[in-house]
Amino acid sequence: MALFKPKAELAEVDFNHLPRHVAIIMDGNGRWAKRRGLPRTAGHAAGAETFRTIATYCQEIGLEYLTVYAFSTENWKRPMEEVSAIIGLLKKYLLESIEKMEKDKIRLHFFGDLDALPPELRELTVRTDDISTRYEGMQVNVCFNYGGRDEIVRATRAFAADCLAGKRNPEELTEDLFSGYLYSAGVPDPDLVIRPSGELRISNFLLWQSAYAEFYYTDVLWPDFSKEELHKALAAYQSRSRRFGGV
Ligand code: IPE
Ligand code: IPE
Ligand code: MG
Repeated sequence: MALFKPKAELAEVDFNHLPRHVAIIMDGNGRWAKRRGLPRTAGHAAGAETFRTIATYCQEIGLEYLTVYAFSTENWKRPMEEVSAIIGLLKKYLLESIEKMEKDKIRLHFFGDLDALPPELRELTVRTDDISTRYEGMQVNVCFNYGGRDEIVRATRAFAADCLAGKRNPEELTEDLFSGYLYSAGVPDPDLVIRPSGELRISNFLLWQSAYAEFYYTDVLWPDFSKEELHKALAAYQSRSRRFGGV
């Protein structure tokens, strides 16, 4: 792949040493809308646009994996109209993606319990998954109806079932083997987790996978998150010393 050439004003990032996997908690849509006197759903629509821009840019700079938190297992607590609007935006995104995947070559995957989605939408996720297997571009993992604890419980259940079926036995369980039961099976752990909107918490995102991730927080609300903001996060990441418990 041709090496990405940044514009002069964005040069503080070393594009030869990008993190392999960036994860983003796309937070702050509601506050963004409220500040403009708009309904929260308008914030989600704006956030979906930001996602498109940032995902395309991540592909351009040569990132391998991008994981975004779009809807948590706890977000069902929100008013029905808001939940429906978010599901509607997912559908719109999937329909567009199916059209564009040929050109973009972005691979789309989902982390989360998709059984809770309307069948028509589930079918679209199966289609995008299917098309994705043909490509080798950046992999985008969309976390939808995703919860870190739920993921760990499901993985445990699946491993226990394999033990009962005689395919596995408890003694052979290792961290690596367990990782293979998670939604993220085969995907390297995130190197960098970005949370916009000023909240300093993990909100049940990638609990297992982010054990040694670097965290970057910003007050910018997700719909206002730009390439420049991403550059700041990448530059901050590159200034850190990762030790993984060593010296
Ligand atoms: C993130 O934005 C989107 C979802 C959680 C679905 P929010 O809707 O949480 O926005 P704030 O945090 O209320 O501003
Ligand atoms: C986390 O944001 C979930 C997503 C961005 C999809 P929330 O807005 O749901 O998190 P809390 O409630 O502020 O912790
Ligand atoms: Mg929020």
